[in-house]
Amino acid sequence: MLGNKVAKIALAMALVSLLGLASQANAECKLVSTKDGSPLPIKVVDTDTPEAKEFLETCKNPYTKRYVADAEAAKAGKKKFGFWSCTQCHGGNAGGQTGPSITDATWQYSKHITDKGMFETIAGGSNGGMPTWHAQAAGNPELLSTDEILKMIGWLRSMYAGGGDKPWLND
Ligand code: HEC
Repeated sequence: MLGNKVAKIALAMALVSLLGLASQANAECKLVSTKDGSPLPIKVVDTDTPEAKEFLETCKNPYTKRYVADAEAAKAGKKKFGFWSCTQCHGGNAGGQTGPSITDATWQYSKHITDKGMFETIAGGSNGGMPTWHAQAAGNPELLSTDEILKMIGWLRSMYAGGGDKPWLND
């Protein structure tokens, strides 16, 4: 009688820890396309940095707080922004040209107040003229890695001049 009860408790505990393991394995940031809301096919790859892996698990960009606090470190993101010619449409300091400003309080999509939302538009493009930049989303290995996009977002956040709340710092 008692043995049966102990066995049941043991079984229940084993189930709980199994469920825990399963949910751990599923802990990932569910990225969606800005174009149509479908899942963006971006996974962790061997060459990903620890920062890229952290983002793909948690949706949090480790560079944002670091770069906002350290303008010197943020230059790594600015360099990428120039290298990939984002400057051609958004201007040298991302203040806008043919493409919109990325440093004011006006966002093309409200989700851009989060690093996840901004990542989705840069990585997968939009229907309003923003190209697709992530290698995996575009199916083109010549294009950008998760880490490069995160560094650019960190720099863009450090350039923000719009005032008001900065929700990207609250995560
Ligand atoms: C060919 C021109 C062009 C290039 C090159 C380009 N963009 Fe864009 N970008 C746009 C346009 C147009 C939009 C507005 C899209 C929309 O409203 O759907 C946009 C929107 C954005 C937004 C959202 C801005 C906001 O205020 O909400 C971000 C962030 C962004 N681009 C980052 C980048 C980055 C990073 C690069 C380089 C890897 C890049 N863009 C290259 C044209 C461009």
